[in-house]
Amino acid sequence: MKVVVINGKEIKGCTYNLKQMFLEELKPEEVVEYYLPKDAPDFCKGCKTCFMKGEHLCQHYEKVNRIWESMLDADLIVFAYPVYVLRTPGHVKTLLDHFGVHWCAHRLEPKMFSKSAAIITQSIGAPNRQAQKDVKTSLNWLGISHVKCIGFGMMEGVIWNEISLKRRNKFRKRIAKFASKFKNLKPRKLRMPSKLYFKLCKMMQNGLLKKTPDDEDLSLDVKHWIKNGWIKRK
Ligand SMILES: Cc1cc2nc3c(=O)[nH]c(=O)nc-3n(C[C@H](O)[C@H](O)[C@H](O)COP(=O)(O)O)c2cc1C
Repeated sequence: MKVVVINGKEIKGCTYNLKQMFLEELKPEEVVEYYLPKDAPDFCKGCKTCFMKGEHLCQHYEKVNRIWESMLDADLIVFAYPVYVLRTPGHVKTLLDHFGVHWCAHRLEPKMFSKSAAIITQSIGAPNRQAQKDVKTSLNWLGISHVKCIGFGMMEGVIWNEISLKRRNKFRKRIAKFASKFKNLKPRKLRMPSKLYFKLCKMMQNGLLKKTPDDEDLSLDVKHWIKNGWIKRK
């Protein structure tokens, strides 16, 4: 199994140790890791060049594409990050913004349908749900239907070494159970909610195709949908 990990923090603290526990339990053959914000692209400037002319023309293409290619190559995509002010850290969101061009509404990558994803989050004590939702929503729109989340409340503090062994052992048990969901991983099929997004976007792209009689005027998105055999001229 090939795994790509997008770490939402460079400091080797609670997030890092929980993610390490996950990998130790999972024992994948191959792991590629990125550490944000170091490996994160700069903020999206909203120029729309990726949508209109191609993502390779984005000023931040190199950093975005390095991570994107690793995601395409992986069987399992892991996001591990802390909760910041009840949501996902800004640098994780920045990376996700850059993937907007590959959302179902634009140029969906069919390789994503078969992938699985794991989201590992932790906070001092705040609920993790909303912070997980930021990433889960993006992954669903990128065509990954199989996304599982696990969240931890540190409670005893934010310094890993100060957290009692008893509590760390509890974390290990929970994460071992979570990792078991990804063992013997099989390629997935497009399911809800991504399946619904695909159907809605197919209607939208078909409408745009009908409205554009001349092939030369078709957008990159519509051409992509035709190329993948998802829509065609009648
Ligand atoms: C900017 C910032 C915002 C945070 N916001 C919250 C929060 O809203 N709720 C919470 O319980 N913990 C919050 N935390 C704590 C983190 O979720 C996390 O537990 C802490 O940074 C330790 O993670 P680490 O050991 O991986 O560095 C915040 C931390 C930072 C740095």
